[in-house]
Amino acid sequence: MTIHTVLVTGGAGFIGSNFIRHLLANYNYDIINLDKLTYAGNLENLADVAGDQRYRFVQGDIGDAEVVRELMPQADAVVSFAAESHVDRSIEDPGTFIQTDVYGTFVLLDAARRSDIERFLHISTDEVYGQSIGDQRFKEDDPFRPRSPYAASKAGGELQVHAFRETYDLPVVIARPANNIGPYQYPEKAVPLFTINAIEDEPLPVYGEGLQIRDRLYVDDHCKALDLLLHEGELGEAYNISAGNERTNIEVVKTILDILEKPTSLIRFVEDRLGHDERYSMEATKIRALGWSTDHDFDAAMEKTVNWYRDHREWWEPIRSGEYREYYERMYGRRLAEAKPYEEAG
Ligand code: NAD
Ligand code: DAU
Repeated sequence: MTIHTVLVTGGAGFIGSNFIRHLLANYNYDIINLDKLTYAGNLENLADVAGDQRYRFVQGDIGDAEVVRELMPQADAVVSFAAESHVDRSIEDPGTFIQTDVYGTFVLLDAARRSDIERFLHISTDEVYGQSIGDQRFKEDDPFRPRSPYAASKAGGELQVHAFRETYDLPVVIARPANNIGPYQYPEKAVPLFTINAIEDEPLPVYGEGLQIRDRLYVDDHCKALDLLLHEGELGEAYNISAGNERTNIEVVKTILDILEKPTSLIRFVEDRLGHDERYSMEATKIRALGWSTDHDFDAAMEKTVNWYRDHREWWEPIRSGEYREYYERMYGRRLAEAKPYEEAG
């Protein structure tokens, strides 16, 4: 396989922007970044590489067949991140998730099968398996049991990727990553939200009793795994990407407060997310067999992440003053007014 040009979709978001930076630092590829710039897309995430001759930004929707069909023949490989990505927003408004995560994925695949694409790396999620019960750890051939509108949309998108492999022999590889943390994550997501609120001495809204478990994967470790899959992943195969950093949400919150030397009195237990998945847990044997390992355990991943937000106020301050404010009020206003402080909840 010879790659000259990679079409990255959703490259102005959290993981996509980190991955573009990773590719530019490690390869001499040309990169086309196709991104709609939804509320989650932010060109500031790529300000340091915007002037690189090898990088080109195109504002557009992956659901727009005209744009996609124009760009696809210019690429040898596709890495597809573009998605509506936040579970809480999918509970409020599932339709946009179907539009992008299902239909948009179809438009990309349909253009790819008509083009000379050598590799189509699709970014799925661990949420397609649904929640782990007890000590269940998902393997790649376990069934899909998505439980949120977001997870169901991602499962719908991924199923089409498999279908295009079976039907058209499209050279696809699929990544199923765990919860990423790191720089440039939109502060609707738990770790940047808790961190920035703590920096600002604002309450930290923990859903339910904070006992749900997520596996925290540092975004650079994730990018290393995607790099391997782009170059060495077996066609038609899906790969779990999990770090083995499973912690409850309340442990995560306490770690953030410790790093920032802030008091636990900032914690509030608020009304839970509807249909909240208790735990995600996956085996990562298959990706490790390709030679992947992580450089960040839980503490290192949290330390780097929290310190980045502490040191990059200029990145998050403009975001918090716009659409985010309205979203935050809608999502947390009543919940916080009715919340229990940490000490009272025991
Ligand atoms: P993000 O929300 O930060 O970024 C998504 C990007 O996609 C944004 O730049 C947005 O503008 C763009 N986008 C949205 N709709 C689009 C459309 N119709 N056309 C073109 N661009 C569009 O998301 P993220 O956290 O970086 O996640 C990237 C991918 O990884 C997603 O597919 C997500 O489902 C998956 N994933 C994320 C995580 C995580 O922890 N963040 C874990 C597992 C899987
Ligand atoms: O597991 C992979 C998934 O991780 C990705 O596919 C999604 O795109 C990504 O958003 C993430 O989904 P989660 O729902 O796990 O992430 P989120 O940051 O929204 O929430 C993490 C945990 O924290 C979850 O148990 C809900 C809880 N939470 C979240 C928020 C926003 C709170 O307790 N309070 C909050 O305010």
